[in-house]
Amino acid sequence: VILTQDELKKIAAYKAVEFVESGMVLGLGTGSTAKHAVDRIGDLLRLGKLKNIVGIPTSKKTQEQAVSLGIPLSDLDSHPSIDLAIDGADEVDPYLNLVKGRGGSLLREKMVEGACKKFVCIVDESKLVNHLGGSGLAMPVEVVPFCWKFTARKLQNMFESSGCVAKLRNDGKGEAFVSDNGNYIVDLYLKKSIGDLVVASDGILRIAGVVEHGMFLDMATTVIVAGELGITINNK
Ligand code: A5P
Repeated sequence: VILTQDELKKIAAYKAVEFVESGMVLGLGTGSTAKHAVDRIGDLLRLGKLKNIVGIPTSKKTQEQAVSLGIPLSDLDSHPSIDLAIDGADEVDPYLNLVKGRGGSLLREKMVEGACKKFVCIVDESKLVNHLGGSGLAMPVEVVPFCWKFTARKLQNMFESSGCVAKLRNDGKGEAFVSDNGNYIVDLYLKKSIGDLVVASDGILRIAGVVEHGMFLDMATTVIVAGELGITINNK
């Protein structure tokens, strides 16, 4: 049987929901993989197999999905400590460092997942990489709209030796993509490795105009990978 990528995402998501217990405060991720987990949590609540869950959504989109499923919601202000978060990723390296944010929700994801006792990341095997940012795909950086070109140029110059090209993300309709927080996303395309991840992270965050970036370093406590040959659970 050849499974589709979406079926693999669902398998990883359902496995992660096995870690959910009644009474938990749960970080609800964003994206096509996390969507399956949120659906599953909704199903289990409706069936009475889970009770007293409080969800903390990582985007407006997930908030809408959770509301439609009847999952009770709250926020980080009221629940600064979260038991468990489940979310997807765009890239996962062998040390469980992640790139997230190709869906544009990196800031809220990082705030929520940074406040979790456990963060279970769910991916299909296509997301596995040897080194973050080397796949030729976007490394997202959320920036304030004010003089975003100035900020984008600083980012591009910072990673010049990696062949970096910084591009403003568009919404597919010819306008700038606007995040849930009213910011823009600059995607960094790198020809070579971004180098030391902590150095890259600190450098990006020191640029005034940058709000957050999509590298989630040392945050995932578990990564569940679904592949053609089965499920692998990697713990920190
Ligand atoms: C949203 O901003 C992202 O961080 C997603 O969690 C990530 O892009 C994974 O999305 P998919 O599950 O749709 O691949």
